[in-house]
Amino acid sequence: MRSKVTVVGAGNVGATAAQRIHGLGYADVVLVDVVPDLPQGKALDMLESGPVIGSDASIIGSNTYEASANSDVVVITAGIARKPGMSRDDLLLTNMKITSAVTQEVVKHSPNCIIIAVTNPLDAMLQNIYETSGFPRSRVFGMAGVLDTARFRTFIAQELNVSVDDVQAYVLGGHGDDMVPLVRYTTVGGIPISDLMAEEKVQQLVTRARQGGGEIVQLLKTGSAFYAPSASITQMVEAVLLDRKRILPCCAYLQGEYGINDLCVGVPVKLGAGGMEQVIQIKLTRDEQAALKRSAASVKELVDVMRKAKGQGAKA
Ligand code: NAI
Ligand code: 2OP
Repeated sequence: MRSKVTVVGAGNVGATAAQRIHGLGYADVVLVDVVPDLPQGKALDMLESGPVIGSDASIIGSNTYEASANSDVVVITAGIARKPGMSRDDLLLTNMKITSAVTQEVVKHSPNCIIIAVTNPLDAMLQNIYETSGFPRSRVFGMAGVLDTARFRTFIAQELNVSVDDVQAYVLGGHGDDMVPLVRYTTVGGIPISDLMAEEKVQQLVTRARQGGGEIVQLLKTGSAFYAPSASITQMVEAVLLDRKRILPCCAYLQGEYGINDLCVGVPVKLGAGGMEQVIQIKLTRDEQAALKRSAASVKELVDVMRKAKGQGAKA
């Protein structure tokens, strides 16, 4: 029997992720959106690609959640996206309301699912989805680090003219301009990046990775990135469905790890059939720890704005 994955939001990221997941062939997909006929039309179009790409998986679209019942994994991409001049944080309160409503439906129809949050601002939205769901943290985590790391890896591979497969990197912290690429843990074929590139060049690539989302927004003009984000979502879905125990940078609700409490921030985790099975704790230098704390403080500011808007007061 195939697994079942629901993708909420049939826009650029959601539809492209649904297409990639349907293409894997081992998961049936339900695509949900509020726009009448949009998810139905996109899902039917993808279904009709099955004979060509060799996927027998089903994919259907819906404006309600009945068809999504008992999903194994639910990916939440519903919300508004960045346009030029907007930061991820500008999306906060609109997307908070959308993700709250979506999460209530998801929990009602798929009480045992694993939720992967994608909607921006990612860390704050994951916090909202986690708190709204009432699920254990192992079953609610967010996609950002895989994307941020993929950008950093791409730029390194381009610079050194090597295969992207051989570049390993980690990006920690919130999915914002103060994310923390861990240069010390960045290697090419096992060789530390500092042995292969001048420090100044490394820092240029770090800056480009930090601003990678904005670079795409400036080029697209009407929205934000979706090809690399949907590939990143699919890698996480696959790690769960195939119980791959992948070590990937994901946004997770921290309970004391890295000295951070009750806040969603990007860290390396182990992903398998149980969802986020472990938060991997790596030793950070004092500077790295300080950068992670700064990034977490930015997330906390947004969480406090959300709490205030919900009338709960801005307590930690
Ligand atoms: P989009 O505008 O193309 O699609 C969003 C879709 O959500 C639309 O089809 C809209 O109708 C739908 N939607 C809105 N309210 C809904 C509701 N209550 N229920 C179901 N569907 C609803 O936007 P795109 O490019 O797909 O981005 C989606 C979100 O993902 C944005 O918030 C974006 O910033 C975020 N994002 C996050 C990334 C990450 O690394 N975490 C990477 C890329 C995008
Ligand atoms: C990105 O990094 C907009 O968060 C999205 O491309």
